[in-house]
Amino acid sequence: MYLISNREMLNKAQREGYAVPAFNVHNLETVQVVAETAAKLNSPVIMAGTPGTFSYAGLDFLVSICQEAARRYRLPFALHLDHHEELTDIEHKVRTGVRSVMIDASHFNFEQNIDKVSQVVRLCRRFSASVEAELGRLGGQEDDLDVSAADSFFTDPLAAKEFVQRTGIDSLAVAIGSAHGLYQGEPNLDFERLAKIRQQVDIPLVLHGASGIPEAMIKQAIGLGVCKVNVATDLKIAFADAIKGYFATHPKANDPRKYLGPGKAAMQKVVEEKIHICGSAGQL
Ligand code: 13P
Repeated sequence: MYLISNREMLNKAQREGYAVPAFNVHNLETVQVVAETAAKLNSPVIMAGTPGTFSYAGLDFLVSICQEAARRYRLPFALHLDHHEELTDIEHKVRTGVRSVMIDASHFNFEQNIDKVSQVVRLCRRFSASVEAELGRLGGQEDDLDVSAADSFFTDPLAAKEFVQRTGIDSLAVAIGSAHGLYQGEPNLDFERLAKIRQQVDIPLVLHGASGIPEAMIKQAIGLGVCKVNVATDLKIAFADAIKGYFATHPKANDPRKYLGPGKAAMQKVVEEKIHICGSAGQL
């Protein structure tokens, strides 16, 4: 079995009106939970890792674990580079077997963003890897990426059209009010803007920062063209809270197989819930 690009997955999702959830994985336990739950629900899923995750887990370990999960469950998985910024780093990971890439050059100006993204698209075409890029800039914190509200800005629909045409990317991450990490108060998504982006751009759209966004809003975003929904924080919180709960009742525990079990069970619920919200169950 193998690791695939997310191109076919997202194009099918776009044609059929659902979204593929992308879960940030960090270790064996998160990969096991995402793979097992996806297999149970017959759902396409993307396993995503930030540069920090790959440094922590090891590129070879993460690729091998995901390949083994794909073999065991007879499912093709996309292992995805989330918020990667360096061309040489991306090239190394693609050469090692990753086929799904996000180049995040959203902190550069428009022309520089196009230039950086185009370089990655040229590289990835040689390996049939898919490329996602971001226009506009999401606020919040995702691992080492920390963007203040003042530095964040929304995607301009006309600029998005030009960006997609000039770069040749496969999917576009949009900034419409979602944020990485925890929300202060109720999230507020600019659906009017999303609809305008959809009118200008015909490739799959990606919603980052989906943790903490109410189900109805995610469904509305999917109805307006979002085909990939990124979830990291909700999984982390479920895992950590369940383990903390276990230690609260078993203060002398020290066997990881015991205290990680409740963490995995809690993550499984989150993965199931997100798959149902995305409408991806049964879509394999
Ligand atoms: P959350 O941590 O808010 O779920 O965002 C995840 C994400 O967008 C990864 O790129």
